[in-house]
Amino acid sequence: MATITNPCSIGHIAFIMDGNGRWAKKRLMPREYGHVEGAKNFKKLVRHCGDVRGIKCITVYAFSTENWKRPKTEVSALMKLFRQYMKDAKESFIKDDFHLVFIGNRDVFDEDIRREMDEIERISAGCSRTLCVAVNYGGRAEVVDAVNKLIASGKTSVTEEDITSNIYSGIVPPPDVIVRTGGEVRLSNFLMWQSAYSELFFTDTLWPDFSTEELDRIIDAYGKRDRRFGGV
Ligand code: IPE
Ligand code: IPE
Ligand code: MG
Repeated sequence: MATITNPCSIGHIAFIMDGNGRWAKKRLMPREYGHVEGAKNFKKLVRHCGDVRGIKCITVYAFSTENWKRPKTEVSALMKLFRQYMKDAKESFIKDDFHLVFIGNRDVFDEDIRREMDEIERISAGCSRTLCVAVNYGGRAEVVDAVNKLIASGKTSVTEEDITSNIYSGIVPPPDVIVRTGGEVRLSNFLMWQSAYSELFFTDTLWPDFSTEELDRIIDAYGKRDRRFGGV
């Protein structure tokens, strides 16, 4: 593993990787091309977060529960890329010391994809960093699933701690920072429960163009924010 050259105080950073389609359109290319370039940038940024900035936990929004509304061709291109992500996970992320965790509802995926997700989570479990990939993820569905799990276990009322420990990402701390690229200023159903006290950053840069230098500027700006958590 590379030596961490420029550590920062962020424990968990999350990315809403938005703008792939517009990036491709600007180049008169199909949207799918933007997703391929976006996936390459994702790998570069994960490595930067881990090896250069020493961030222990990264979450990325790869596919939302609402993204099924897209044209069939785009959805299948995204699923193809997801299979590729999983191959990459085995070949490089585990070597880079990342425990892969998938959050989202897995029921809709083909049996082979689900088996692969379980296998990757299992074989990477000993790694010291965490890379959480949100696929078929929706923040509202996550809270509803958690509550239903608690009801099924016999609970008749629930606490915040119950929900926190029953959401998909139960083992992951809430994100300190959420970065959204692509210019929209919204969370689009991402980490609804966990984002209560996250520091939010929005940039117009489209995801495939989002550079390690811009990320470093965001990390610097995070260092200057005053996180009060309701105190003074
Ligand atoms: C984000 O990029 C990737 C996914 C939602 C899968 P978009 O595909 O939403 O790109 P834009 O926002 O249309 O440019
Ligand atoms: C959010 O982007 C989902 C992902 C990045 C995976 P969208 O492009 O789906 O969000 P909206 O539709 O602009 O809110
Ligand atoms: Mg978008």
